[in-house]
Amino acid sequence: MISTYNQICPVLFGPGSVSRLSEKVKELGGSSALCVFDRGVEASGISEKIVSQLNNEGIRVVPFGNAMSDAPAESINEAGRLAQAEKVDIVIGIGGGSSLDTAKAVTILVENPLPIEQYLVSAGGKYTSTIPLILIPTTSGTGSECTLMAVIHVHETQMKDSVLRAANLAIVDPELTLTAPKAVTAAAGFDALSHAVEALTSTRRNPKSDILALSAIELVAGNLEKAYLDGDDLEARTNMSLASNIAGIAFNDALVHFGHAVAHEFGVIFHMPHGLACALTIPEVIRSASGVFPEKTKKIARALGLSLPDSATGREAGEAAAEKVRELMRKLDIKPLSAQGISREDAVGCAEGAFRKNPFVEFSPEHLDPAGLAELIGMIYDNYR
Ligand SMILES: [Fe+2]
Repeated sequence: MISTYNQICPVLFGPGSVSRLSEKVKELGGSSALCVFDRGVEASGISEKIVSQLNNEGIRVVPFGNAMSDAPAESINEAGRLAQAEKVDIVIGIGGGSSLDTAKAVTILVENPLPIEQYLVSAGGKYTSTIPLILIPTTSGTGSECTLMAVIHVHETQMKDSVLRAANLAIVDPELTLTAPKAVTAAAGFDALSHAVEALTSTRRNPKSDILALSAIELVAGNLEKAYLDGDDLEARTNMSLASNIAGIAFNDALVHFGHAVAHEFGVIFHMPHGLACALTIPEVIRSASGVFPEKTKKIARALGLSLPDSATGREAGEAAAEKVRELMRKLDIKPLSAQGISREDAVGCAEGAFRKNPFVEFSPEHLDPAGLAELIGMIYDNYR
């Protein structure tokens, strides 16, 4: 099989690495920076420290602290107007996936006319974007710092659409994740696990994405619960930062499939946080893949910490691995669909939209149509209660 490997941007990784930000901004020729973050990052004090560091090094900062959950187009356009008016020469995104995706999208608007909607992948608008972009995650989950795609919530079409823009540098500093609350740690951690599991079982995977995705599963299995129980455990936080980052690099090549298609539709219909929605799909993603990729499913089960007899079938490994993930979901208080007040009928009713709005569903291990996807959503509902 001939495949393409990508590494779309360099990564500065490790506790304390954000202290090198000013130096990196200067290396990239930046002197006037738009810093994109949200209110949670502001409340944690992280953005203030970063702004001070930049100011102390003579770098002008234009703050945009109004990045919104799920990166809605309105908030991106608001930041775009600010960036154009202030004539910034570098963009820095600080935060969870929504802030990083907002920063990616705003970067396009610095050099191109508003609004962002015309550059969505579904709209096909052309643009050139050369202004430097640095992304600094403060949660361990989305891997957005190393993916090309910025996921944008477009309210008019009830779609999670996207624009494409790679960062010039990712700074992954696990110390920035120490303040993440328990619920954020859990949801983000399961998002990383879903990226790894879907990348590993996607029909677009390649040998590099397989290695990274499998290592990410091992890292999540060994560290997510520790980071959830003790947010100050820097070793567990560091391993989760690495898991999130390498799962992002893996799925940038391999893409994701039906788990994320369903999660996106749950997000727009039920306003469910992305990581929570992803968590719910993981056990059925593994079960669905087990019939198609038995050996790979055994690797997933072992990476999750299960010891399997050599005689185990792919199906048996899939059932055991799915239950292992459900156990972790219960421990980390991931609420089943029924406990979120969602009826089985409403959940299954998301199949049509999930299929139609998310073309990457075609990379699922089993060929799916809307009816097949409805069946899988029924299993997501019934098998985790
Ligand atoms: Fe995700």
